[in-house]
Amino acid sequence: MLNKRIVLGVTGGIAAYKSAELTRLLVKAGARVQVAMTHSATQFVAPLTFQALSGQPVIIEDADPAKGHGMAHIHLGRDCDMLLIAPATANFIARLAHGLADDVLSAACLARDCPLWLAPAMNRQMWHHPATQRNVLQIQQDGAWVIEPDSGAQACGEEGAGRMREPEAIVDGLRDFFSPKRLSGKRVLITAGPTLEKLDPVRAITNLSSGKMGYAVAQAAREAGALVTLISGPVCVPSPPGIIPIQVESAHDMLNAVKAHVAHADIFISVAAVADYRPAQSQTHKLKKSTQALSIDLVPNPDILEWVATREKPPFCVGFAAETDRLIEHGEAKRQRKHLPLLAVNHAMSALGSDDNELILLDDEGVHPLPKADKLTLARQLVAHLANLFNSKNGG
Ligand code: CTP
Repeated sequence: MLNKRIVLGVTGGIAAYKSAELTRLLVKAGARVQVAMTHSATQFVAPLTFQALSGQPVIIEDADPAKGHGMAHIHLGRDCDMLLIAPATANFIARLAHGLADDVLSAACLARDCPLWLAPAMNRQMWHHPATQRNVLQIQQDGAWVIEPDSGAQACGEEGAGRMREPEAIVDGLRDFFSPKRLSGKRVLITAGPTLEKLDPVRAITNLSSGKMGYAVAQAAREAGALVTLISGPVCVPSPPGIIPIQVESAHDMLNAVKAHVAHADIFISVAAVADYRPAQSQTHKLKKSTQALSIDLVPNPDILEWVATREKPPFCVGFAAETDRLIEHGEAKRQRKHLPLLAVNHAMSALGSDDNELILLDDEGVHPLPKADKLTLARQLVAHLANLFNSKNGG
């Protein structure tokens, strides 16, 4: 997003208040934001709010003497990387569908030579009305991208589809759009989260992996243009945008899911904290307590990553290792043992469950530390690194 020039067009709906936050997030992400408003939008939020957040005077009139040229509608959609209308009202979408150009924003949409994105916001019945649906289809056919609205409680008191997407989700979409597509069309298989090994119908052995790192890696791979298949143990984190995880429980389930998808994978990233052992027997009835000590026999689980990496034609394999001491030494030994071109090692205690992490990447070239950052930032750096390795190996 750094230095991307975004024209944010605000039209007259109550969701305009969310566009103030959208402006802040875009600026925070490094974009240069020029806000333009319709007259009715100014009744919802004062232009000064957007001016303060974007650091730029807001454009409302086409012939703004302050701008000198008096043709804002031409310059708006030419000198930018994206024209984003958020919120886009039913009325604005209808005018766009008919090619009307009766204010600076609608005229800029016609005169533009950049991508046009719209984040609709309206009452649920207005959204579902055949006229609106017809207009949405029309503007999509004319080349606009429409960000599907959310469902939920609406400002009018009703419940349903038509809420403008949350600013964070819109920024994620834009980031995705602008990010270099280093893994365009590549199939990436990822495992994430813990596994859960049942002792009886209500008890299990598991670990403290949250799945956050694996889900962040899935999001970063998708942003890089990959077709992502995410196989996940039981976690409580939201699915990455546009990815529906395949849910599994035990290491055996995870291995079976990997076997079902690995043949098509170009890259396998094994982030899951797979349980190394499972109970030798899983009881079908609940174990009853007694006064005696209880010991449980454990048997080793299959090593999924090793199984993939030692296939006849393995995908490019990336492993993760959680260590408590001598990270590089133990990590490198693990990388060699599992035949991996790349392994990310982290400190077991600081990584588990936390939002931040610190990684050391180990490959044939040596050691590449990634300093402490949030997991999504690290995931993006890891994906960039693996994409370079993968592409140089495969002549990409
Ligand atoms: N892994 C796997 N299947 C297993 C165990 C681990 O696929 N049964 C993968 C993990 O997803 C991770 C890497 O192997 O990418 C971790 O290797 P491992 O040797 O299991 O690391 P630790 O669990 O840290 O091992 P140890 O406890 O021996 O240090």
